[in-house]
Amino acid sequence: MVMEDLRARCEAAGQEQLLQFWEDLTAEEKISLEEQINALNLTDINEYYRRTQTIKKGAAVDDQLEPLEPEVCGGTTRTPDHFLELYRNTGLEKIANGEVAVLLLAGGQGTRLGVSYPKGMYNVGLPSRKCLYQLQGERIIRIEQVAAEKYNKHGNVPWYIMTSEATKAKTSEYFQKKSYFGLKKENVIFFEQSTLPCLTFDGKIMLEGKAKIAKAPDGNGGLYRALGSSGVLQDMIGRGIKHIHVYCVDNILIKMADPVFIGFCVTKEVQCGNKSVEKTNPTEPLGVVGKVNGTYQVVEYSEMALKTAQLRTPDGRLKYNSGNIANHYFHIDFLADIVRNHDGELTHHIAKKKIPCVNEVGEPVKPTRPNGIKMEKFVFDVFRFAQRFCCWDVLREDEFSALKNADGAAESTPTTCRHALYALHYKYILNAGGRFSDSTGSVLPEIPGHVSPILDETREKGYMNGSNADEASSSSDEEVKKSLVVEISPLVTYAGEDLEYLVSGNIYAAPLIIAASKESVGQSRIRKPSFIVDK
Ligand code: UD1
Repeated sequence: MVMEDLRARCEAAGQEQLLQFWEDLTAEEKISLEEQINALNLTDINEYYRRTQTIKKGAAVDDQLEPLEPEVCGGTTRTPDHFLELYRNTGLEKIANGEVAVLLLAGGQGTRLGVSYPKGMYNVGLPSRKCLYQLQGERIIRIEQVAAEKYNKHGNVPWYIMTSEATKAKTSEYFQKKSYFGLKKENVIFFEQSTLPCLTFDGKIMLEGKAKIAKAPDGNGGLYRALGSSGVLQDMIGRGIKHIHVYCVDNILIKMADPVFIGFCVTKEVQCGNKSVEKTNPTEPLGVVGKVNGTYQVVEYSEMALKTAQLRTPDGRLKYNSGNIANHYFHIDFLADIVRNHDGELTHHIAKKKIPCVNEVGEPVKPTRPNGIKMEKFVFDVFRFAQRFCCWDVLREDEFSALKNADGAAESTPTTCRHALYALHYKYILNAGGRFSDSTGSVLPEIPGHVSPILDETREKGYMNGSNADEASSSSDEEVKKSLVVEISPLVTYAGEDLEYLVSGNIYAAPLIIAASKESVGQSRIRKPSFIVDK
């Protein structure tokens, strides 16, 4: 009888293939499959699929996309210093008041990088062997300190971490093992996004095993539903959070709770905001921020026609050049309104993927080309509900280097991330009055021109292959030669501040590693904690 009901429901939804192996299943497997089907709302899934079919690739955006109006844009390179200072102080004050939270989108499966654990646990091979999560956690500690010193009160920046079925257990276990990287456990809050079944191209739910439905996280826009169902929105409201900095896991240069970005958004009194870098290559996988039909939107790179991406303005720059680096600001009132009133209006996007499944006789298949779709909501799809929006442009070399691919790929690899961090930290030292010498002892020019400083190869290789690495990355000799290894702990500086007294007038031979001594963690910088300078 139970079986008849189940079959009737599946048939009514056009999803009877879910039961195609029923006769082969053990009693236990039957119960399990029935539970999985019962947990699905088949009507909703069919409706989501139907709505995705109305989005035609490229067609809608090509006709209606417009660049942002200049009034809503600002940027680090075209803002006078006193305004930058004003924005920074505004952001720091909000942090000191305990009004700022960061929210990490970490539910993705990281398939391009090809590791079996969450991407945030990846160690790109820095001398410190810190993984992405550790860099992020320590930047929170540091920015709390900077704000506390400036405004004489300590505000916590809670770290909300959205995981998925695929990443939840490993992420939370890892944080526990690493003692939350020095943060208070109660200020690191995990919550889980939902999953959706994977579908064939014609909308049929796929089976991964004879008794197992193929599922995937519902996209980083699954955030809004998860915020409501997990109680996290309430938690934020309860803590008095007003400003939320949402970001993606893979950017090694991420400025956690960036006070300048937050200060800009607060000053502009916007409901939400986006941080961007200039997109210079039409085929780079960066979404672009613009207006579609008069509303703010990010048009994702995968949904933009090449001819649109290639359009240029008379000065030769890309017409749509506001590249999304997955850093978003939300005011709590806006976020609450989205969660309560608009989540249901967001349409899923489709991603064609290689989905492990079973063939018609129930044997497992690992496809070599896309065989189905995942339905995903995008986090930025809520911009269209904002009347007050802003976009803050930053320099790519200061703020964006993403880990997407394994070494060997042309870009966005562990090696490119590592080198981006070294280059930024090298700049911090120069700006603070330190200099570098080459292996012969000659002081390197501040702007080296065509001469790449050669560093101690053995040393960098040693870092990368060390036994302590969670997962060491490696790079070619050629790449190693080109990089100048400089790593400064986020516990010492957040964005290059407060380094003068430490490095001014000194000449270093790379590699240079500046780490906070253990005792300095969590202490105020006013007490001039001691540092370990390893060179
Ligand atoms: C993302 C942006 C793209 C931007 C680029 C910059 C989206 C949809 N796209 O693209 O516009 O130019 O970063 O690097 O944001 N995630 C979840 N749950 C999911 C799927 C993903 O939390 O179900 C998280 C991932 O863990 C990651 C982030 O969302 O932190 C971005 O996902 P990813 O698939 O890497 O996006 P990109 O294609 O790189």
